[in-house]
Amino acid sequence: METRAPLDPHPDNAIVWHEGRLYLLDQRALPAEAGYLAIDSAEATAQAIRDMVVRGAPAIGIAAAYGVVLAAQAARDRADWRLAIEPDLARLAASRPTAVNLFWALGRMRRCLDRIGAEDPVPALLAEAVAIHAEDRAANHAMGELGAALIEGPTAVITHCNAGALATGGYGTALGVIRSAHAAGRIIRVYADETRPWLQGSRLTAWELQHSGVPVVVQADAAAAGLMAAGGIGWVIVGSDRIAANGDVANKVGTYGLAVLARHHGVRFMVAAPTSTIDLGVASGAEIPIEERAAEEVLACGGRRLGPEGVAARNPVFDVTPAGLVDVIVTERGVVEQPTAEKIRALMG
Ligand code: MRU
Repeated sequence: METRAPLDPHPDNAIVWHEGRLYLLDQRALPAEAGYLAIDSAEATAQAIRDMVVRGAPAIGIAAAYGVVLAAQAARDRADWRLAIEPDLARLAASRPTAVNLFWALGRMRRCLDRIGAEDPVPALLAEAVAIHAEDRAANHAMGELGAALIEGPTAVITHCNAGALATGGYGTALGVIRSAHAAGRIIRVYADETRPWLQGSRLTAWELQHSGVPVVVQADAAAAGLMAAGGIGWVIVGSDRIAANGDVANKVGTYGLAVLARHHGVRFMVAAPTSTIDLGVASGAEIPIEERAAEEVLACGGRRLGPEGVAARNPVFDVTPAGLVDVIVTERGVVEQPTAEKIRALMG
């Protein structure tokens, strides 16, 4: 693993641009090893997204934006640089299908490309990627304040997957709300679902919350029902990979089940996501492409095969929670309670 990086590994610095290179905190190895992978090309950026070196919807978009800068750096001396980077843009767009932030960020980079004339394209593209990165971090802090204000604590909460600094430009969406609410004394403890099969909860969320000084307890995904029945859980707080125009929410597989459980037990259900996660181009969750990853991710754990050879496995890595099960969507532009298509449209202007 490449460890020469300009910063010490820290959850708030998962994506770093330094002297013409992209550095990604390798999330496959956390928490056992915290080191950066140096990325020199758009192709390597797409590969890193596909392989989950960087993951989480906003983080994927930010990494892809820097990937476009790497593409332009490689082609800037060619007269046909605009044409030469097209295969790289296509590679980045094909890296993962569900998180709309990827396509949103590539759309912004393409609009930036369209504004560039005869000059060197790299400075303008880099400025746009840096802006996407900084705006996401600012959005997380805004969501943190707005979401924390909704929590009448002190209470315990459940979160699923990792919607923290590692999954964003820094600070986090769901974990941003949790960090702000903990600082305000409204959240006393976080139960982090381990999040089978990739274990974003036990590996990444637990690591991040430890860094932030937020008390965290890891539990098997299936333990959430009993915990809610026992009482003391005020909210389930999660992020999202894509929110449809009607408020349906795609997020890590298992989120839908948690939302059903929350409604049954009278626990409120919050989704924290920037407006870059809202896709007005899909009418409902049924239109959101759900990524299916390798069966091996389910049949093996920690590199060790668990299931019998030859057995089939399903591995849809996201599911869709219907808007009717969502109590509130928190964005940087404001909160939407009991989301509907009308309310989402009004939020997005
Ligand atoms: O497969 P992943 O790890 O990329 O999935 C990430 C999630 O589902 C997160 O909960 C979601 O992207 C929100 S990230 C702020």
